[in-house]
Amino acid sequence: EETLHSPSYPWDHLGLLSSYDCAALRRGFQVYRQVCATCHSVERIHYRELVGVTHTTEELIEMASEVDVLDGPNDEGEMFERPGKLTDPLPSPYQNEEQGRMANGGALPPDLSLMVKARHAGQDYLFSILTGYMDPPAGKEMMPGLYYNPYFPGSAIAMPPPLQDDGVEYEDGTPATISQQARDVVQFLNWCAEPEADGRKKDALTYMVVLGITAVVTGYYKRFRWATLK
Ligand code: HEM
Repeated sequence: EETLHSPSYPWDHLGLLSSYDCAALRRGFQVYRQVCATCHSVERIHYRELVGVTHTTEELIEMASEVDVLDGPNDEGEMFERPGKLTDPLPSPYQNEEQGRMANGGALPPDLSLMVKARHAGQDYLFSILTGYMDPPAGKEMMPGLYYNPYFPGSAIAMPPPLQDDGVEYEDGTPATISQQARDVVQFLNWCAEPEADGRKKDALTYMVVLGITAVVTGYYKRFRWATLK
């Protein structure tokens, strides 16, 4: 079965001098929590890392505390449950791979922390998968539990179409179309894979400015030093 290559989309945050859009990251985190988190973990991200990115400290303390976290062993050697805190990773939907496969007809929903990096065409591919579901071509039978999606290798994916128009309600009033939710959640997942991107660009700019000044000073110094020999 032929697989379509995703088109290349103009992601605003990829520019050399552009940064993440925090409103989009906040919306994307909402889509992740309300839709994707039923089946996918982003186990590399901890609540504290989202402070000042998607939410305030207070909001995240509250959000974390709503989760029961298994901790221990305590002094008696027992495991116990406690409310989540900022240093906890985002909760995973399943306890282990077996449980994840059992809930998904044998397919495993992969952890999404680094998914943008794991697939060729990263964000464009993720956006295409999320928005690319369609009816199979006439005459093509789909096996039960598989859905036609021409962007997925083999065109049959075990993930049911996760997004629906107005499937979430955004606090900032942005209309929650499928493509808007896909755009936001992909930006969020890109942040998960590259939380340091903004700092890296800022450092690069500082470096280039300092390098420029150094070049001018060096050039001037050289002319000054050699002036007597000319
Ligand atoms: C696979 C993203 C929601 C079940 C995937 C993949 C991505 C992804 C990127 C990997 C595709 C690949 O391997 O190249 C998302 C996002 C979601 C979401 C961003 C929310 C918007 C869900 C939900 C379920 C689910 C709600 C369960 C009902 C699966 C399964 C696979 C998968 C079973 C493995 C598919 C296969 O190997 O055929 N998802 N997903 N996903 N997802 Fe999701």
